[in-house]
Amino acid sequence: ADLRARNTFGVAARAPVLVEVDDASGLAEVFARHVPAGLPPLVLGGGSNLLFAGDPAGVVLSLQAAGMRITADDGTHAIVRADAGAHWHAFVRWTLDQGLSGLENLALIPGTVGAAPIQNIGAYGVEVQEFVHLVEAFEPASGDRLRLARADCAFAYRDSLFKRETDRFIVTAVEFRLPREAAVRIDYAGVREALAADGIESPTPMQVFEAVCTIRRRKLPDPAAIGNAGSFFKNPIVATARADALASAHPQLPQFHTGDEATRKLSAAWLIDACGWKGHRDGDAGVSAQHALVLVNHGGATGAQLLALARRIAASVRERFGVALEPEPRIVGERW
Ligand code: EPU
Repeated sequence: ADLRARNTFGVAARAPVLVEVDDASGLAEVFARHVPAGLPPLVLGGGSNLLFAGDPAGVVLSLQAAGMRITADDGTHAIVRADAGAHWHAFVRWTLDQGLSGLENLALIPGTVGAAPIQNIGAYGVEVQEFVHLVEAFEPASGDRLRLARADCAFAYRDSLFKRETDRFIVTAVEFRLPREAAVRIDYAGVREALAADGIESPTPMQVFEAVCTIRRRKLPDPAAIGNAGSFFKNPIVATARADALASAHPQLPQFHTGDEATRKLSAAWLIDACGWKGHRDGDAGVSAQHALVLVNHGGATGAQLLALARRIAASVRERFGVALEPEPRIVGERW
């Protein structure tokens, strides 16, 4: 099966077999019929957080179920459940339409609900883990369907149990616990300023949602117009002493708290920009002229060419600043 239209980088790739799974309860049977032992399948969501540097070796699975419903509501909080195949942004919009809040800062993130907990998506001061009630997953090795409480998911910045133990679980549904009483989060300067420019000081969740959509449309290239997978690198987390040394040499380098005094998070975009990569092109593999953290496919780039460019960028940041960058999307068919 041709995967070009199934990855937002729009690079060519082929799967030996592609299985569309309508109902997660049939996964055990899908494994028995289609998945050879020892060759874990690749589960494809929106294809917005991976780079095909080569073809996937095994079966590719796509979970189709996309239901969303409220399963409990005590008047102050509701538990909402969405199937892995639901479109993330549509889900966020739907929760707001139900009078629920919390997810508005995560508007317009590409991909599916099932992918959201895997890399603990985050934007504008909010990470999805804060609202995850539990994650439902199929474990092929045992054949079990598990319900993992939030505390068991090992969530961290762009990381989780599901990402760390690649191939151990297949996320089939996620339940979120969302408040009815809005506690909007506009601590992220860009969001507060955008709202203030419209004269809004105490925004509703829907107004935050709109502001985040506007900022993202302005700052990040649209994958429908030019192939990309959002941020290609994670913002690096370094020891505080190292961050302090970098701050005195480069006072403009943005630094963020991590919730742990021993470490700080640096802006990968700034480091890459400072090395002169923004807008750079190697043939059709390039760095967005809009945002230095986003690699783009100008049309005919291969995944291998994009990976080669990413490696050159990381090498130059390491050489100039002594900081190691790690890719954010999953690299298929190659090792970082
Ligand atoms: N910057 C530059 N050059 C650029 C772009 C940004 O120097 O070309 C500097 C600026 O100083 C800017 C700072 O980098 O203030 C931070 O930029 P931005 O606010 O765009 O955030 P980011 O750290 O680059 C992270 C997430 C994004 C998320 C935004 C907003 C990661 C890897 N990326 O980006 O997530 O939307 O914050 O919260 O954590 C994604 O994961 O795919 C993604 C887009």
